[in-house]
Amino acid sequence: MQLHPDVEKVLISEEDIFNKCKELGKRISTDYEGKTPILIGLLKGAVPFMAELMKHITCSMEIDFLDVSSYVGTRSTGKVNIRRDIVTDVKNRDILFVEDIIDTGLTLSEVMKEFRNRHVRSMEVITLVDKPEGRTVDDVNPKYIGYNIPNKFVVGFGLDYNEMYRNLPYIGILKKSVYEK
Ligand code: IMP
Ligand code: MG
Repeated sequence: MQLHPDVEKVLISEEDIFNKCKELGKRISTDYEGKTPILIGLLKGAVPFMAELMKHITCSMEIDFLDVSSYVGTRSTGKVNIRRDIVTDVKNRDILFVEDIIDTGLTLSEVMKEFRNRHVRSMEVITLVDKPEGRTVDDVNPKYIGYNIPNKFVVGFGLDYNEMYRNLPYIGILKKSVYEK
């Protein structure tokens, strides 16, 4: 497969992501055996990950989507607002938030605060990619993590830079020249 000209190098290949989704799906199926968790994908980045992951989950489950905004360009603004809420009643339900990537953790920290008020039974987080060096909050500790990566800006498999590159089948490091021009 041809590398996108704006991508410096592939960090995680399509095949690796597929195998990781299989592994995580198995873990979730075991952990939620006999329950019906609601996977809540954070739009838009979590879409490809959630689609691949759920194919490997064998327990009963539901899905919903939440759209919150916090990012402009490559830096977090630290302000989160709900642009599109979920439609499912989450009271007494087991919630699994599905994220593409966690950096500062501010987005999920705010989202989880909001969901505590909705009296869910349990709340966990799965993220395909984690950048633990970027963390500025201490209440976001994902139970399921695909990959830990260094503090570099990455794109692909749902991850964007100004809405572009979400369609790449791999996760790659964006060339600095792309966002410094
Ligand atoms: P946080 O609130 O700083 O944890 O940011 C989480 C959100 O920021 C993710 O859902 C992404 O939309 C975005 N984000 C953080 N790091 C990256 C990156 O390296 N590439 C693309 N998006 C990112
Ligand atoms: Mg996102």
